[in-house]
Amino acid sequence: MAMDKQMLLDDIAKGTTSAFEPLQVKDPILSIENLSVMYSDGKESLININLPIPANQISVLFGPSGGGKSTLLRTLNRLNDLADVEKLSGHIWFEGMDLLDLSIDPINLRRRIGIVFARPVVLPMTIRQNLTYGLEIAGIHKHAVLDEAVEQSLKAAALWDEVEDRLDDSAGALSGGQQQRLCLARVLALEPEIILLDEPTSGLDPISTGKVEESLQKLKETYTIILVPHSVQQAARTADLAAFFLEGRLIEASFGKTLFTKPRLDQTRDYVEGRFG
Ligand SMILES: Nc1ncnc2c1ncn2[C@@H]1O[C@H](COP(=O)(O)OP(=O)(O)OP(=O)(O)O)[C@@H](O)[C@H]1O
Ligand SMILES: [Mg+2]
Repeated sequence: MAMDKQMLLDDIAKGTTSAFEPLQVKDPILSIENLSVMYSDGKESLININLPIPANQISVLFGPSGGGKSTLLRTLNRLNDLADVEKLSGHIWFEGMDLLDLSIDPINLRRRIGIVFARPVVLPMTIRQNLTYGLEIAGIHKHAVLDEAVEQSLKAAALWDEVEDRLDDSAGALSGGQQQRLCLARVLALEPEIILLDEPTSGLDPISTGKVEESLQKLKETYTIILVPHSVQQAARTADLAAFFLEGRLIEASFGKTLFTKPRLDQTRDYVEGRFG
């Protein structure tokens, strides 16, 4: 069994199995091609990943711990520039450029592709300043513009109703769930094109989780969302496209909920049915 599984995984990585046909996406906003990432300990964390990402949809990357999901999000945000990456190969096409090309400015890129992590990191400032800080750095100082950005981004992150009366209080006084939504609002204030979310609701109660999931449905009208969910259930609830990652490989991907109702591979089925975690 172990041997068969290894062979299947190797075939998938080489693209020689018929079980996984690469998805066809018309005019993808991002296209990940033959991406491999190896950290300096010599372990390959992503092996030959091919995945087109459709615009204005929620693409969900899910699978067991250590599968490479966060590595992929960090690579999309060029955060691996700062990590211990030994080898990185392949391409990530984004509007005609390969964002892995070192001549591309990562700071500028991160305004266009924003990221929210599992644990919220608010800046030690007021709620309002958390949202205006990035815009001021980008040279925007008009009060009316900043006020509008604060209101719109908080509304989009489903936080406005809870904080509109205390925008000048310290952000650190917010609850964990509120801080998480503030981090989402901070990314939205910069009006990125793509939002990367790495288990954004893992520290949230079910009500806040519901609010975030609801706001994602609205946000996708404007943005492209790539989400690493905190559970299979969340994956199934939110996915327009679902991609199952196991041990650095993209095992199977499909549109809609097919991966959860009719997975093609045993590994996917076992995982979505909760047989291993
Ligand atoms: N900075 C790093 N240096 C070395 N190895 C790393 C580093 N970051 C991740 N890895 C390794 O790469 C593999 C994939 O890790 P990654 O964090 O991408 O997985 P994940 O799918 O996000 O897992 P989880 O669901 O637990 O968040 C793991 O084996 C991990 O140990
Ligand atoms: Mg992770």
